Amino acid sequence: MPKTIIITGSAGLIGAEASRYFSSDDYEVIGIDNDMRSRFFGEEASTKWAARQLEEEFPKYQHKEIDIRDQNAIDQLFAERGLDIQGVIHTAAQPSHDWAAKEPITDFSVNATGTLNLLESLRKHSPEAAFIFTSTNKVYGDRPNLLELKEEDTRFELYREDGSLDPGIDEGMSVDQTKHSLFGVSKLSADLLVQEYGRYFGLNTVCFRGGCLTGGGHSGTELHGFLSYLMKCAMTGNEYRIFGYQGKQVRDNIHSSDLVRAFGAFMEKPKCGAVYNIGGGRRSNCSMREAIRACELRTGKQMKTVYLDENRIGDHIWYISNLARFRRDYPEWEVTVLIDEIFDTVYQGLENRLRKVSEMDLRQGK
Ligand SMILES: NC(=O)c1ccc[n+]([C@@H]2O[C@H](COP(=O)([O-])OP(=O)(O)OC[C@H]3O[C@@H](n4cnc5c(N)ncnc54)[C@H](O)[C@@H]3O)[C@@H](O)[C@H]2O)c1
Repeated sequence: MPKTIIITGSAGLIGAEASRYFSSDDYEVIGIDNDMRSRFFGEEASTKWAARQLEEEFPKYQHKEIDIRDQNAIDQLFAERGLDIQGVIHTAAQPSHDWAAKEPITDFSVNATGTLNLLESLRKHSPEAAFIFTSTNKVYGDRPNLLELKEEDTRFELYREDGSLDPGIDEGMSVDQTKHSLFGVSKLSADLLVQEYGRYFGLNTVCFRGGCLTGGGHSGTELHGFLSYLMKCAMTGNEYRIFGYQGKQVRDNIHSSDLVRAFGAFMEKPKCGAVYNIGGGRRSNCSMREAIRACELRTGKQMKTVYLDENRIGDHIWYISNLARFRRDYPEWEVTVLIDEIFDTVYQGLENRLRKVSEMDLRQGK
């Protein structure tokens, strides 16, 4: 009898990758996604196409347009499946700082209360299941900006006292008394709830505090999905706006397939209330300037960019995840898709969609 996996945000970048990964003879995947991404960012960012694709590719995949804020609908689903549920992968979210500031109550109700709805139903009906939450490095607020960075030609960089490259930010960084943005606060609230349902109730819960998550399946838009949106601008000739830091801000980038393999590793050997920083780490990162160059190399065209002096509020200048804790607990896992291959897959993913719709349609997000 196949076990059930519930994946929220199943049409989004990470949710769709997870739905593909777990759709097999062993698991029956129930995906929850109400295309709220198009309400956040407009039609350009709709993930409806990805839900349709999953239904076509995997006849056993079941899609439910439930809103995770709908506590009754969530509870009913968990009550129906009960102990058959082996895992919950919770990726549905309002993912943007700037959008959160426009509608703080909606942001909090999706990110924090939506997570609480899922945890409560898990506790009541499926207490043996693993609960995997895609948290974010924004739980550390802008504290990473206090690091003593060195400015180089194309990026900021962090070194240890002995002159070697710093291995990145670990889970010991304080989450307190820094500027988070309202998005950071709603995600941190959810992160703490996920930890507490592990520590207090003994459930198998984990927070993966992600750096930049990316891949060919992202519906990128200016407010979210940086590499995908950047590549889309490079391909369509649309203008890209760089916000501050001379374009030298650094991000580590993890491909959705590597992240989902980390979920698989946790599911095999779950823990209570675990917290891991996860990202491309030292093996896979780039600055904005380096990313623009990489996009231009793929398209063969110079990008139209405009530089704005003012950085986004609370935006990290340099963030590379230290992966040591996760590698210690799950040594079989490693980052396998490195930054060049990530650019290739993002380019390829957009080109495949371009082939299906005209270039004009892509600009409008169809
Ligand atoms: N992409 C990144 O760089 C990044 C970085 C760190 C953390 N994260 C976190 O990882 C998770 C997945 O990110 P992603 O890039 O796949 O996001 P995404 O926006 O591509 O996918 C999220 C999906 O959730 C759905 N959704 C939103 N609100 C919903 C609701 N109320 N009910 C049901 N469905 C809803 C959206 O329609 C969308 O399809 C999010 O929790 C995000 O905060 C993302």
